Amino acid sequence: MTSLLDRAISVLRLNDTGIFTKPGPYQYPHQWNWDSALIALGLSHFDLPRAHLEIRSLLSGQWQDGMIPSVVYHSAPSDYFPDPRFWQIENSPSAPPVPTTGITQPPLLATVVRTIDARDPDPDFLGEVYPSLLRWHRWLHTARDADGSALACIIHPWESGTDDSPRWLHLFEAIHPEALPEFQRGDTRYVAATERPNRSEYERFIYLIDTFRKLNYSPPDLLAHSPFLAQDVLFNAILYRADEDLRALAQRLGQATDEIDGWLDRVQQNFNTRFWDEDAGLYYDYDMRSGKRIHVNTASSFLPLFAGLPSGEQARRLVEGHLQNPVEYAPRGEVGHWVTTTAKIEPTWEPRRYWRGPVWVIMNWFIMEGLARYGYEELAESIRKDTLSLIETNGFREYYDARDGSGCGSVDFSWSAALALEMSKASL
Ligand code: DGY
Repeated sequence: MTSLLDRAISVLRLNDTGIFTKPGPYQYPHQWNWDSALIALGLSHFDLPRAHLEIRSLLSGQWQDGMIPSVVYHSAPSDYFPDPRFWQIENSPSAPPVPTTGITQPPLLATVVRTIDARDPDPDFLGEVYPSLLRWHRWLHTARDADGSALACIIHPWESGTDDSPRWLHLFEAIHPEALPEFQRGDTRYVAATERPNRSEYERFIYLIDTFRKLNYSPPDLLAHSPFLAQDVLFNAILYRADEDLRALAQRLGQATDEIDGWLDRVQQNFNTRFWDEDAGLYYDYDMRSGKRIHVNTASSFLPLFAGLPSGEQARRLVEGHLQNPVEYAPRGEVGHWVTTTAKIEPTWEPRRYWRGPVWVIMNWFIMEGLARYGYEELAESIRKDTLSLIETNGFREYYDARDGSGCGSVDFSWSAALALEMSKASL
């Protein structure tokens, strides 16, 4: 029988276009930003030059102002919607020469570059990509800083990476699309509609893009007028961790770190004040438009562990009060798997729908790494083993039913393969 690792390599090879790797063969036929970072991490275990190419290809879509977009379309035609023309990025003076979306995604790349470099040092490659990473982080801490806190704002649920999280329903309550451009969804062609976002959420996704097109993607206008503006726990935890990794890369290259130190100091000062809810013992996202925290209990609340941001006591409350609680996240009896994306007690919990509740390999990986950082090695190991056995039994799927582990979403999903390699090979 072919081993899990051989099968993981085959999935990455299957989705390899030679320039970039598709996240999924049918559902996601272009290059996605944080998918690509994880794919490079997976590739680095068996083909380092190809991992470097994956990163170079993503960086070829960087905007003049520093943004690295959520999707780079390169030149491949496809049946994916929104297609490149829909974004109308050419109306922005910052648009790159290749077709891309006009929004970004969680900034995982510097962390991946540092991890790969620590295993297989390549100063030339590092020197080549470092300036692009620095420009992206600078853009996040300036063009997306709405209140001088150095925390980055997101303007669309797709920027959060957790696109269909029930957290966003609270912001959507205040958004009423008056007129929508004509569009035809493509995301339910290969995946059952019951596993994809509902129509009313999807219409808001499109309405937001239409709003951004009308603002020509001008960063100050987006901050001033986007109806959706949030400071997201997951996004900012990943950014903080990536800033630390960027600083380590700067030190490796003998470059000044003052600017990065400044971002780290300010985010450290503001993160807990902004997001930590002392009563609940959870981190909650912040809606900039209503000026309120979004009180929804999701696995994003554990992401600060990955960044080392909680105190020991905060970590204890997160892990012992919530993650290990069978009513919220932990598996109960024979039913249930680590780690559901939304707490099972949330009324919006849905075990098979996109980010409403299923288990995602990426979340398990973040949480496992965060737990190890805080000394919860046994728990981290239990999540690692459960994740690998979930993949062994149900294949490299995009996500898994939170009750019985059956596969949902895209088949042959690249980051599930990449993280299977990472979780099997890297020691905690
Ligand atoms: C989709 O099409 O659902 C993607 O997640 C958006 O980036």
